[in-house]
Amino acid sequence: MSQNPTLNSFMCGDCVELMNSLPEKCIDLIFADPPYNMQLEGALQRPDSTEVDSVDDHWDQFTSLAEYDEFTKSWLLAARRVLKDSGTLWVIGSYHNIYRVGSILQDIGYWILNDVVWIKNNPMPQMKGVRFCNAQETMLWAKKSQQSSGYTFNYRGAKTGNEDLQMRSDWYFGICQGGERIMVDGKKAHSTQKPEALLHRVISTTSKHGDLILDPFCGSGTTVAVATKLGRNFITIDREERYINIARSRVEQIVPTRIVSEAEWADAPPPRISFASVVESGLLKAGQQLKIKNTNFVATIHEDGSIESQGVRGSIHKVGTILLKQASCNGWTTWHYYDEVNSCDRLINDLRTKSE
Ligand SMILES: C[S@@+](CC[C@H](N)C(=O)[O-])C[C@H]1O[C@@H](n2cnc3c(N)ncnc32)[C@H](O)[C@@H]1O
Repeated sequence: MSQNPTLNSFMCGDCVELMNSLPEKCIDLIFADPPYNMQLEGALQRPDSTEVDSVDDHWDQFTSLAEYDEFTKSWLLAARRVLKDSGTLWVIGSYHNIYRVGSILQDIGYWILNDVVWIKNNPMPQMKGVRFCNAQETMLWAKKSQQSSGYTFNYRGAKTGNEDLQMRSDWYFGICQGGERIMVDGKKAHSTQKPEALLHRVISTTSKHGDLILDPFCGSGTTVAVATKLGRNFITIDREERYINIARSRVEQIVPTRIVSEAEWADAPPPRISFASVVESGLLKAGQQLKIKNTNFVATIHEDGSIESQGVRGSIHKVGTILLKQASCNGWTTWHYYDEVNSCDRLINDLRTKSE
């Protein structure tokens, strides 16, 4: 088994077998758009009897829900093996499959971070008029386990790009159409080509430049096309050679976006928030203790955001200054709290972005 996966490679074959041939823990981000098992029986027709271009491909056919579940479990396990401990996985699906996928991924240890709803600006109408027009798909974003930490979430970038408002989990994008839709001999090259804008948001918010992204269900190559544009590396897999060929020629035509240094964010000062707002938002609670590492100094938090230690009460900065007998002290980078989820001490400074 090779230890270094080949970057920017297209692999043709079954994704479970091919993921199992990759080294363990080599992938930063997985985006998976698996078969939805849409269970369409017979051609769909419009009221004027013309046929609707629906997803009836053989790769979307399963004989039973049990067979679909078995397939889902096997690819999710293979994906988990290749994912770094700090990596995350996205799976997109519809009501046909996403509940089953979500339940299986929880059963095998993944920890769901979000269920992002892609609301389609231009959904396909409900032809038979027997139920509501289905206007959304769901994307589950998960880390490897409840305990895993250090995953990439470009919180500040997402917020800044969203008019300084926290990015929410309802995303509005149109379905893939017009010039973006790849056609071969006048027909859609792939029945489920996803819009690039959707992948742009996924990749830019949850990966870094130079990361290795895996798409085990390549199709027309939307994930790898956007990954290339955004300066990420990729590995992609599809059972069908014709799709791999379409994706490869799509990527060959891409001019990567100019990469802006990550350091521009790292250098930016942390948000100026008060310690009181950390207590108000419940990230730390009155009565909880803070400590200064490598000393015996321990302080108790009050409900107004002041702290108290050895009969001294004041701000995190003032109490730190007095205890350490220094001219000044930055309380944010001095005091630690106990992070129960990850069973470790953390600087209170880490909470500054969380309470924004
Ligand atoms: C929903 S489509 C992906 C569409 C893609 N996201 C796009 O934007 O074009 C799923 C793809 O998975 C492939 N596929 C299905 N089962 C597979 C398997 N076991 N291993 C590898 N590829 C598979 C199909 O050939 C199909 O192209």
